[in-house]
Amino acid sequence: MADQLTVIVLAAGGGTRMKSKTMKVLHPIGGRSMIGHVLAAVGGLEPTRVCAVVGHQREQVGPHILESLPDAVLAVQEEQLGTGHAVRIALEALAAEQAAADNGTVLIAYGDTPLLEGRTLRWFAAEHEAAQAAVSILSGVVEAPKGYGRIVRDDEGDVLAIVEENDASEVQREIREINSGILAFDAGFLAEAILRVGNDNAKGEYYLTDTVQLARDAGLTVTAFPVDDVAQTEGANDRAQLADLGRELNRRIVTRWMRDGVTVMDPATTWIDADVVLAPDVTILPGTQLLGTTVVAEDAVIGPDTTLEDCEIGAGARVVRTHGQLAVVGDGATVGPFSYLRPGTILGERGKIGAFVETKNARIGEGAKVPHLSYVGDAEIGEGTNIGAGTIFANYDGVNKHRTTVGRHARTASNNTFVAPVTIGDGAGTGAGTVVRRDVPPGALAVNVGQQRNLEGWAQEKRPGTAQAQAAAEASAAAEEQAAT
Ligand code: UD1
Ligand code: CA
Repeated sequence: MADQLTVIVLAAGGGTRMKSKTMKVLHPIGGRSMIGHVLAAVGGLEPTRVCAVVGHQREQVGPHILESLPDAVLAVQEEQLGTGHAVRIALEALAAEQAAADNGTVLIAYGDTPLLEGRTLRWFAAEHEAAQAAVSILSGVVEAPKGYGRIVRDDEGDVLAIVEENDASEVQREIREINSGILAFDAGFLAEAILRVGNDNAKGEYYLTDTVQLARDAGLTVTAFPVDDVAQTEGANDRAQLADLGRELNRRIVTRWMRDGVTVMDPATTWIDADVVLAPDVTILPGTQLLGTTVVAEDAVIGPDTTLEDCEIGAGARVVRTHGQLAVVGDGATVGPFSYLRPGTILGERGKIGAFVETKNARIGEGAKVPHLSYVGDAEIGEGTNIGAGTIFANYDGVNKHRTTVGRHARTASNNTFVAPVTIGDGAGTGAGTVVRRDVPPGALAVNVGQQRNLEGWAQEKRPGTAQAQAAAEASAAAEEQAAT
């Protein structure tokens, strides 16, 4: 490798075909923005310096770029006068930052190619340097070259020029080898050539691709390396293309995890974001989305029909038909079906969050269980405790949120309401239907449901002629007959 590598990422264009108030390169795909994928690939090269050219919506795009690459230099291109103009502005911005790209290699990439991989850039830069070329083109051979710059070669196969669609002759339009847009330059050549690029062409733009002709005229070497995997250099210009690339990106991610030992029953309905991490022997069942920075440990089984965003799932855990966000599930724990884990849920080892249970900001201890139909918000539940079916942790008094603490090995009964702030001690219990408003000491049983009264004969007296009264009459007749024998 040469001593210095400068990468310039072009991202000033508006992307009008997205028909969006969100700038094209910020549209999400595979859990990152489009440009986020490009910056990840670029970052993997450990370049000497990176410059990103921003224009449209630079108030959003600029800071977003700096989140991925804090050391990147941002160059502002007020008007999009062409790729040649954009690169000139980038070189000026670098020089102004005392980071001039004055030797080594300068690599040009676009912000809208989300499938681009670092190793492809690395390979391309190495080929360029080995060829000692002034300019190298990452080309591609495609079925439908329309819209791309065509690679014009002579009879020996040497590259003569890149001709843009609008400037191409009928014969040149038949050429299927296209410019992907990714170019590599000798830094010294680029610094000098970029000043000589004009805008005398069909679009009246400064074409970066005109540097090829300039290099040839100076008798310098120009090379083009066709990339096998053209999808890596494809951009998404509208939402249909974004969805196509999204499906392809997902297919690649899912395939990679299967190769690494993850069982995926139905790749077509499984969506895994780029930053998700899975251990070997994880099983993913159909209809599952693993999003954001979700991490799943070995032998866990996720799905079917589960969405987990930024969650951490322990070894051997089982998560069925669940929606989870910023939740932690311990080793061997079980969740679902139909559970809703909201941020701050932490389920201990071998714990259980069961059917129709919603949890938020709740720490549920080792082996503790919330099996059925409950809301657990702002709570601490000790190890080995069992929460009865249909329990509501009433955390909100209409103004403020309060916490409930339930100790270790407590047994609370069905249909309870815990009115926070309240504490239920270790080994304590409650009766069915209890509304716990005061603390329950360790080992105590809290009961506050009134005495039951039975008004005998009520149905026949108050609901005469109904099926209810009829059933009651039949039951008492049967009981009398029983008593008589
Ligand atoms: C460009 C290439 C073409 C190539 C194609 C690949 C030129 C002249 N043409 O054409 O050979 O086949 O890409 O997709 O280079 N941009 C700026 N500032 C500008 C102009 C563009 O930042 O002033 C950015 C855009 O945001 C975009 C990229 O550069 O990310 C390419 O620009 P675009 O206008 O799409 O170039 P094409 O006409 O497609
Ligand atoms: Ca384009």
